[in-house]
Amino acid sequence: MTSDNRAPVTVIGLGSMGSALAGAFLAKGHPTTVWNRSPSKADDLVAKGAVRAATVAEAVAASGLVVVCVLDYRAMREIVNSLGDAPAGHVIVNLTSGTPQEARETAAWAAERGVDYVDGAIMAIPAMIGSEHTLIFYGGPEDVYDAHAATLTAIAGAGTYLGEDAGLPSLYDVALLGLMWTTWTGFMHSLALVGTEQVPAAAFLPYAQAWFEHVIAPEVPNIASQADAGSYPDNDSTLGMQAVAIEHLVEASRAQGVDPALPEFLKNRAEQAIKRGHAGDGFGALLEVLRKPATD
Ligand SMILES: NC(=O)c1ccc[n+]([C@@H]2O[C@H](COP(=O)([O-])OP(=O)(O)OC[C@H]3O[C@@H](n4cnc5c(N)ncnc54)[C@H](OP(=O)(O)O)[C@@H]3O)[C@@H](O)[C@H]2O)c1
Repeated sequence: MTSDNRAPVTVIGLGSMGSALAGAFLAKGHPTTVWNRSPSKADDLVAKGAVRAATVAEAVAASGLVVVCVLDYRAMREIVNSLGDAPAGHVIVNLTSGTPQEARETAAWAAERGVDYVDGAIMAIPAMIGSEHTLIFYGGPEDVYDAHAATLTAIAGAGTYLGEDAGLPSLYDVALLGLMWTTWTGFMHSLALVGTEQVPAAAFLPYAQAWFEHVIAPEVPNIASQADAGSYPDNDSTLGMQAVAIEHLVEASRAQGVDPALPEFLKNRAEQAIKRGHAGDGFGALLEVLRKPATD
């Protein structure tokens, strides 16, 4: 069901994510034109009221706002490059995932072609698209983003605009994914350790959850403020003391036959921070090593 006063939108790329995006625009009444390399992926959307473009050129011509969500930036640029000057004067919001460098190069490439370009990073799975709680980061010219912000609420509540730098959404994306993967991996390492003594994960879980809630999470804002201040005071639990405890973790991992690489990494970085004079600081001083890795 489309509504006359809703801005038309084109969605290019109808994989799992692109189909969810197009479905959300349609659900909010936007006249929605779709194109996909394999045309059959448009069938369900067409049944719900989307217009199938026969060519990419036709898809771009249909709407001022063109949302692209394909596998990677190479595919995205291949598609748009095939159009010559046709996208000039249109706005491309690229929700394809990639690196900050790819996003910045693509913004420069778009500027050369007279295309208004906003980069975005979707922090959600397809089933979450259209929910007001879904997070999408955007970066690019503010006036271009502002002109389309209301339309983009169809896919993710209020989008989060990070500024003119098209690379920032991808940077936030990889930073948050890194936080997720390393946190989960730390949990898995603890499960591997207790698992060597046949402790089921379910038995360990309540302690891990309490540890997350009362020890790990409350320290995060403190680390953030220390990071901004560039100083890491902690008289109660110094890095020098914790480095000895990390050594226990390394030794226990080896003795129990569990992969020691994760605690060995921690031990190495703690030693580097101590070498740089942070033995009397808190654990947050590790950030200095992560920010400026040793070159030797
Ligand atoms: N799915 C998720 O949970 C999720 C979450 C956040 C971000 N993302 C990002 O969203 C983007 C799309 O993901 P997805 O889950 O939709 O992937 P997908 O289901 O694998 O779909 C990939 C899409 O890219 C198209 N494509 C690939 N190579 C192409 C080429 N050379 N020329 C033209 N089209 C090409 C495919 O077309 P065909 O149908 O013709 O193959 C298809 O439309 C990715 O960058 C992904 O990282 C996905």
